[in-house]
Amino acid sequence: MNMLVAFLHHLAAFTLVSSLVAEMILIRQPLSLSSAKSLRTLDGIYGVSAMLILVMGMLRVIYFEKGAAYYLHNHAFMLKMTAFIVVGLLSIYPTMIFLRWAPALKQNQLPLLSPAQAKNIRRVLHLELAGIVIIILGAVLMAKGAGFTA
Ligand code: HEM
Repeated sequence: MNMLVAFLHHLAAFTLVSSLVAEMILIRQPLSLSSAKSLRTLDGIYGVSAMLILVMGMLRVIYFEKGAAYYLHNHAFMLKMTAFIVVGLLSIYPTMIFLRWAPALKQNQLPLLSPAQAKNIRRVLHLELAGIVIIILGAVLMAKGAGFTA
């Protein structure tokens, strides 16, 4: 069970990063009906992966690995959780814009995306990727025993 949960944690983490990179590539190009639909799908995959990462991560903290007491006294874990929350909050902006496209996409119409919005989304996606680098650093440090306070 321990290995299955660890596997799902990693699988969801890789899926999340892949969907983020794919969103980044699509948003750099002029918006088309097909790229708008893909962006929405990718954002959905991103959301499901984030939920799966969280659930599997919590299961690992509470039931598997080193025990909750270890993680709750570990600075690297706190760093990882803070970065996870910041990335989650950042992801609200693109998601809100993609959700607003639903009526246009239902009628197979190209949704509106102003140059300013596209630029902001690109910036947010970049920041999210930077946040994920911090999360992975925190994950490795806490797994290897760094950042532990008694
Ligand atoms: C985008 C978000 C996340 C990514 C990319 C991520 C990535 C990783 C990676 C790569 C590892 C393996 C570290 C290693 O063995 O060297 C790991 C381990 C772990 N993660 Fe995450 N993680 C994320 C979110 C979370 C969350 C939200 C939690 C808790 C609620 C969590 C809890 C854990 C735990 C408990 C381990 C085991 C560490 C150990 O072996 O002691 N992770 N994570």
